Amino acid sequence: MTTAPWGRDKTRDGVRLLCYGKNRSFRGKIVSISIQVHASVGLFGDVFLGEPARVFQEAVLDNTVVGAFSYVSVRATFHNTKIGRYCSIGDNVATLSNHPLDSLTTSPFPYEAVFRAPFDAAPLHSFEKTPTTTIGNDVWIGSGVKIMPGLTIGDGAVIGTGAVVTKDVAPFTVVAGVPAKPIKSRFEPEVIARLQELQWWNYEVVGQPINWRDPAEALDTLEQRIADGTFAPQDNRWYKISRKEHGIHGDLVPAPV
Ligand SMILES: CC(C)(COP(=O)(O)OP(=O)(O)OC[C@H]1O[C@@H](n2cnc3c(N)ncnc32)[C@H](O)[C@@H]1OP(=O)(O)O)[C@@H](O)C(=O)NCCC(=O)NCCS
Repeated sequence: MTTAPWGRDKTRDGVRLLCYGKNRSFRGKIVSISIQVHASVGLFGDVFLGEPARVFQEAVLDNTVVGAFSYVSVRATFHNTKIGRYCSIGDNVATLSNHPLDSLTTSPFPYEAVFRAPFDAAPLHSFEKTPTTTIGNDVWIGSGVKIMPGLTIGDGAVIGTGAVVTKDVAPFTVVAGVPAKPIKSRFEPEVIARLQELQWWNYEVVGQPINWRDPAEALDTLEQRIADGTFAPQDNRWYKISRKEHGIHGDLVPAPV
């Protein structure tokens, strides 16, 4: 555990910059200044953030993993979702949940106690309302996108604003519309093959002199530097984030489980 030099419990522009270690109070020692979780964020189930990561106002994370260097914008909602590294998630993005279409009722009352006694009942059956959604690395999801549960969004994909995604999205493909359809590929197939082989997001590339604006040159540089060992593998820390009595806490964990 590390302690930031300036002490405890700092907020800047309403964003809580800090997370606190296991069983530590609100004024406990700082364990990470690179996990930024706004105080208004909703946290449910097991939520893991890689370091660094940022979650903006009123986002909701329910059984969700957010990889290092990814951010989740305001009011985005994720259920049972695994998000990779370097993802840019727009405002109001959501992974949705299902109701049973083939049951006599789509209401959840037979399997979930939504209402309080005496209007609740023991579950009559189970229903998987949020199969796991997987979002790869370096994915950009535009404002207001809705994603049906259980899909896979490939590495490097882009989803245009307002899309409703009903099918898996192939790596490095740009999709848009309702329902979302591919509108272009970001790169030629041979470049995509090299990117998928290289997986640059697993290396310490931030701050390195790479000409990202020239994809061909950047890819050559990355391949060379990763091959010769200049760019070390990125082994980020993980925090399990939860809301406790006095605020949002982050417990350092070996990996998401
Ligand atoms: C998807 C996106 C990245 C595509 O950008 P682009 O490659 O510059 O796209 P273009 O403007 O060349 O459009 C290509 C075609 O797709 C259509 N298109 C683009 N975005 C679309 C969208 N979100 N929904 C529906 N159609 C879209 C265009 O109308 C155009 O159609 P046409 O060929 O029939 O004329 C961009 O339009 C977008 O939605 N960006 C997200 C912005 C955002 O949400 N920012 C906030 C979060 S960070």
